[in-house]
Amino acid sequence: MKIRDIVQTALITAAIIVLGMIPPIPLGFIPVPIVMQNLGIMLAGIVLGAKKGTIAVSMFLLLAFLGFPVLSGGQAGPAVFIGPTAGYLLGWLITPAMMAYGLSRPIVSRSWGQLMVIWITAVLIVDAIGSFWLSVVTPISLTGSLMSNLTFIPGDSIKVFAVYLVGVRMKALTTTPVIK
Ligand code: BTN
Repeated sequence: MKIRDIVQTALITAAIIVLGMIPPIPLGFIPVPIVMQNLGIMLAGIVLGAKKGTIAVSMFLLLAFLGFPVLSGGQAGPAVFIGPTAGYLLGWLITPAMMAYGLSRPIVSRSWGQLMVIWITAVLIVDAIGSFWLSVVTPISLTGSLMSNLTFIPGDSIKVFAVYLVGVRMKALTTTPVIK
């Protein structure tokens, strides 16, 4: 990794942490809040691609695991990684790789195709993994968990659109732009 790659990766890790400082909005019916931090995860995938994006997200998750209060609402520590939101954290870890794979497909050349890939990987798959784990560690059924997660779809879809617009502009700053 060149110095420039390290700086870009560290900046995205920092952006993810800063987005975690925006207070989460709790939902009464599931122990999963609305957060802004997943915007940073999407940005990691779009701007950095699979390798650097995964490193950026891993660094952030490692800090959280070690007890640094970098998750939304100042959460931290190993317990979070087996708690109700652990599925989303796993989803976040694999988001840059999934996104980069999808965006590298030849048919995904137009903006709407790229938006679809980002939406499917960063929203649908993350919510599906999060829902599954939520149903494992809480009394909420898988169906109930999946239905509850529909609450996140409108907000997360807006985040995808916003992050896509930002990501396209940031591509000039990267050495390995994912969006061409
Ligand atoms: C955590 O801080 O422990 C993880 C929170 C996960 C929140 C998920 S991410 C996808 C969905 N969209 C949101 O705004 N909240 C949930």
